[in-house]
Amino acid sequence: MTTPAEGGLQRQIDFYVRKADSYDRSFWSMGQRENRNHFKKIQAISDALGVTSSSTGSVLEVGTGTGLHAHWFLERTSTTYCGLDVSVPMLAIAKQRVAAWGDRVRLTVGDAQRLPFPDGSFDAAFCAATLHHLQDPAQGVREVARVVRPGGRVALMEPNWKYPTVLVYSASVREEWNTFKINPRRLAEWASSAGVTDITVTPVLYTPPQPKRLERVFDYVDRTMPKVPGLRALSITMLLSGRRI
Ligand SMILES: C[S@@+](CC[C@H](N)C(=O)[O-])C[C@H]1O[C@@H](n2cnc3c(N)ncnc32)[C@H](O)[C@@H]1O
Repeated sequence: MTTPAEGGLQRQIDFYVRKADSYDRSFWSMGQRENRNHFKKIQAISDALGVTSSSTGSVLEVGTGTGLHAHWFLERTSTTYCGLDVSVPMLAIAKQRVAAWGDRVRLTVGDAQRLPFPDGSFDAAFCAATLHHLQDPAQGVREVARVVRPGGRVALMEPNWKYPTVLVYSASVREEWNTFKINPRRLAEWASSAGVTDITVTPVLYTPPQPKRLERVFDYVDRTMPKVPGLRALSITMLLSGRRI
């Protein structure tokens, strides 16, 4: 007999079996996920974690996917990277992507809601576009916080359903429905009760990744929108940044 939670987890596993091969070329990322928006998002996460090019230490990503963030961290910093994901085919792509980094990288199959790591195992941990795939996103936040050492940094990035394309996608794909459960206030509450302090939640990105010729305009819009009351809430993603107590 399968519990509703197990059924939900299996649904997500099946979803990413279907998506893995085309994930990095999806329609929603305009055919190529390794684009301007990806770099802006991972730079924002890295800043939230306080990681710079000279940083060492250990970073965990919960919900590694195809390893784009792994690649970014390994190429641009001196940290080690540990990635966990419930999807074997997604991790298989990540494994190929980061094969060159040998011992600096570890990839593990597991459930974000029951991380197979002792308390305080990592200097920093983050989760990007993964909490809304969990049956219990608050439990995912508790787990991310639990495995970070006291004083270590936590970053949680999630899509914002108020952005038009996120709204359409989240409404039309059942595996994305939990996106509607997540908003800046709730994310902050979950993090706070998981033992995270110094919490800020900021909007990240308002513009599409292409066309490239409009990049300067897009950059201007991305810098300006957070200053406009009312419109600032319409970002593509939200980013929580905090420190483990
Ligand atoms: C939208 S993708 C994001 C991947 C990556 N963070 C990125 O932004 O490129 C969501 C990922 O969460 C993973 N996932 C879903 N449910 C999970 C769970 N319970 N535990 C761990 N990973 C999970 C999926 O397999 C998928 O790789």
